[in-house]
Amino acid sequence: MTDVRIFGSYDEMSVFAADYVARKIDEDPSLVMCLPTGGTPEGMYENLVRMYKRGKVNFSGVSILNMDEYCGLGRWDPQSYQYYFHEKLLDHVNVKSENVYMFDGCSADPTKSCADREELIEDLGGIGLTVGGAGRDDHVAFNMRGSRFDSRTRVVRLSEQTIADNCRYFLGVSESVPKYAMTIGIGTLLDSREVMLLANGTHKSAAVRRAIMENPSEECPASALQLHARSLWALDEAAASELLVSATPS
Ligand code: PGA
Repeated sequence: MTDVRIFGSYDEMSVFAADYVARKIDEDPSLVMCLPTGGTPEGMYENLVRMYKRGKVNFSGVSILNMDEYCGLGRWDPQSYQYYFHEKLLDHVNVKSENVYMFDGCSADPTKSCADREELIEDLGGIGLTVGGAGRDDHVAFNMRGSRFDSRTRVVRLSEQTIADNCRYFLGVSESVPKYAMTIGIGTLLDSREVMLLANGTHKSAAVRRAIMENPSEECPASALQLHARSLWALDEAAASELLVSATPS
């Protein structure tokens, strides 16, 4: 069942998402989480760091995995997702370094790294909570259109839309955006015991409508969440605007 929560602003959505994560950690101090990068979750991370500094959340027992990474970008590349995680969360909270599992974008064998990631998830007892975002072209993690719902962690080629959307992090130069990435699969995501997806802004409203209101289809990877027993979308009003239009009686 997909639950949808709509908030008046990005800030409210972010506070909700951080509270949600903190509550889940409180319920299970050794929670295994798979977490996203990108602009959308920045507010959630800011709130989590603030809550940690006030003693409201304790990361000492949790394990953190990231959900995707560009091929070719390493820990110290400011555009790598590993760098992002350290900057936004890991360097500010008490998560133990041995419980942090980041994709190595510079792996000599990305295909093997992806297979290792699946094994790792199994060894950790599965993912308890995955938090994700959604792309304008319906991707979730880096699962592009056409990703099978039973896909596992693997190397993918990024869509032109995703490259165009992400080139803002590469001084606007789309040629600088890596063309390949490692990502957890849709099947990996669906195996997570709980999933929360975040989206804000009108630029996400069509993707959100397709993901939530249209029949699940591999052409819309984010729609796979409809097949999950415990999935939740947290949206601001702008991202939800096409849902609200659909729900308003004429
Ligand atoms: P964004 O990216 O949070 O930067 O919009 C989301 C995504 O591409 O999954």
